[in-house]
Amino acid sequence: MVAAYRGRASAREYPLCADPWALGLAGEEGLAIARAYDEVFPHMELWIAVRTAFLDGCVRRFAREAEPRQVVLLGAGFDARAARLSHPGLRFFEVDQPSSQGEKLRRLAGLGGYPRESAAYVTCDFEREDFLERLEASGAYTHTPTLFVWEGVTAYLTEGAVRGTLRRIAEGTHPESVVAFDHLRKKIVAGNVRDPRDLASRSFVADLGEPLRFGVDDPLPLLYEAGFRRVRTHTFDELALDSTGTYARERAFRFQGLALASRAASDLG
Ligand SMILES: C[S@@+](CC[C@H](N)C(=O)[O-])C[C@H]1O[C@@H](n2cnc3c(N)ncnc32)[C@H](O)[C@@H]1O
Repeated sequence: MVAAYRGRASAREYPLCADPWALGLAGEEGLAIARAYDEVFPHMELWIAVRTAFLDGCVRRFAREAEPRQVVLLGAGFDARAARLSHPGLRFFEVDQPSSQGEKLRRLAGLGGYPRESAAYVTCDFEREDFLERLEASGAYTHTPTLFVWEGVTAYLTEGAVRGTLRRIAEGTHPESVVAFDHLRKKIVAGNVRDPRDLASRSFVADLGEPLRFGVDDPLPLLYEAGFRRVRTHTFDELALDSTGTYARERAFRFQGLALASRAASDLG
């Protein structure tokens, strides 16, 4: 569904993001789910486009810094950043649970010309395994500044897995590493909302087999407790205003946020 929205957004006349692989990865099945979700939450395409564009900007800025550099896509799903944003001296890793990664690799094999070698593929279940141990076991990961992109994942994890993953990034990686992730707020995750459209949106995702489990209103205390000392937070209304020049209350972007954190990186963007 996410790839379908990213592909649709990329095909617009004035696109906010550009992913030539997304529609192929999504397939008709992904497009059909996105069309059904449009009925419940008609602003999802814009949310995904804004999120993709913002995180692409983080990767591009990070790539311009001194080498060697790494980007780790945590819960990579059908993200094609490794192919889209390849840069000399920048290594990409995709970490995902085995079922999602296996399905992605199967779909990539059917996409002519996709540079599969643009990333190293590492399997991990964030609830049960240590993703750093899994990365280190891959043989290619090194203790150098790394950008961890954790897009569209935290909402589906337990609080323990979110805290544990953040702590491992803060304590176990190079101090100039950065984590960039989006999150939902507590109310929508708990179902503590009055608008039936918000409840319908929450149920739609649960019915896809991915119930919402984790939300946080202000991630700064959580990030501080995990060991980060530099934090930037953004609302989706701010990001949408930056990239479209518009604000619309009915988009209901009040439930989403995005955060960047590092122990010591001088530039969080
Ligand atoms: C909504 S998708 C987002 C995918 C991708 N980051 C994007 O934005 O297109 C959620 C991803 O989180 C991954 N995920 C969910 N729970 C996980 C877990 N316990 N361990 C590892 N990955 C998980 C799923 O496999 C899926 O790839």
